[in-house]
Amino acid sequence: MKSIIITGGAGFIGSHVTRTFVNKYPEYQIINLDALTYAGNLGNLRDIEERSNYKFVKADITDANKIVEIFKEHQPDGVIHLAAESHVDRSITNPVAFVMTNVIGTVNLLNAAKEIWEDHYYEKRFLHVSTDEVYGSLGEIGLFTETSRYDPHSPYSASKASSDHFVRAYHDTFGLPVVLTNCSNNYGPNHFPEKLIPLCIHNILHNKPLPIYGDGKFTRDWLFVIDHARAIDLVYHKGKNGESYNVGGFNEWQNINLVKELCKQMDEKLGRPERTSEQLITFVKDRPGHDIRYAIDATKINRELGYSPSVTFEQGLSETIDWYLSNQEWLNDITSGDYQQYYKMQYTV
Ligand code: NAD
Ligand code: DAU
Repeated sequence: MKSIIITGGAGFIGSHVTRTFVNKYPEYQIINLDALTYAGNLGNLRDIEERSNYKFVKADITDANKIVEIFKEHQPDGVIHLAAESHVDRSITNPVAFVMTNVIGTVNLLNAAKEIWEDHYYEKRFLHVSTDEVYGSLGEIGLFTETSRYDPHSPYSASKASSDHFVRAYHDTFGLPVVLTNCSNNYGPNHFPEKLIPLCIHNILHNKPLPIYGDGKFTRDWLFVIDHARAIDLVYHKGKNGESYNVGGFNEWQNINLVKELCKQMDEKLGRPERTSEQLITFVKDRPGHDIRYAIDATKINRELGYSPSVTFEQGLSETIDWYLSNQEWLNDITSGDYQQYYKMQYTV
């Protein structure tokens, strides 16, 4: 039986990747390695936690010795690395945590894989999940391709760029069989409500202001999380060693227009009069170093691996809102406790 360690499997994207692999590949043993930080939630995986090909291991990737121990015990054939500090705003208040997890943690995993695989790389694979933010910010035109220059601006994107460089360095120096994905903004069920879409869904439900940074004209390129999981599956199995694949759905939205669309759909689903939620929109101070526009050119993954998204944005957003409406307990659990403190610190001027 092949085994794969998925790091960060209790987080937003990681939980969808874990579920995809556990369901689709009963012949693989899937080990979810996660430290369960504020962003990790085993409640995201209740439906698969009893499956015989799934196991959870609590560990911190910054602990090099522990990681080697786990790799020796489980002898993974593959690693899909998603564990990270992922929120740009938190990287502005605490950059060091991002260096520790995103840079040091990644290097610890690379070292552990190198040690247990001992140059026997046949049918082994280390997939590093990265982001489009490493490419920096676009003007009004153009798209990020795999050869775009790295130009990160936030401590988060700088830490992800650094981890990407280490992953490539281990390929070039030690021959480690790595592949990388650089994906655009994800949305969908289980998204932590510090990020724009789930934060606005939560606030609309509670009639709270919808904080829009700056003039709201910043642009992001949105992909349904299950389509990201499908891309990771494809790249893990069919990607070429040493290569990067941009993942996206050619779906750009200015933040203000996206939030208005969300308000419209929420009003319809909640049976509120038209434009009720839009009135909650509040412009607040901008994020420092805020990147203006991200947009992914996903031609390579489409042409070489036959990838394309399975849902339209309208379908994905509607499905996402429905999930939050039927899982308000999940949202309430997460937004009690520490979240309140974070929210006050981030949004009180
Ligand atoms: P998330 O914050 O929801 O989840 C991160 C997970 O990593 C959590 O389960 C957390 O407990 C775990 N984790 C954090 N620090 C850890 C540590 N030191 N040791 C072990 N586990 C730790 O993040 P996400 O949004 O699901 O993102 C997952 C990955 O995808 C990240 O690498 C991120 O950079 C990348 N990515 C995210 C997006 C997006 O839109 N969310 C887009 C492109 C790429
Ligand atoms: O592009 C991929 C990246 O997308 C991932 O690598 C990151 O892990 C992920 O967090 C996400 O980063 P963003 O900064 O783009 O996502 P966020 O949801 O935080 O913000 C989306 C846009 O909305 C951005 O322009 C900032 C703006 N925003 C965000 C919040 C939280 C607001 O206007 N108000 C807010 O309250």
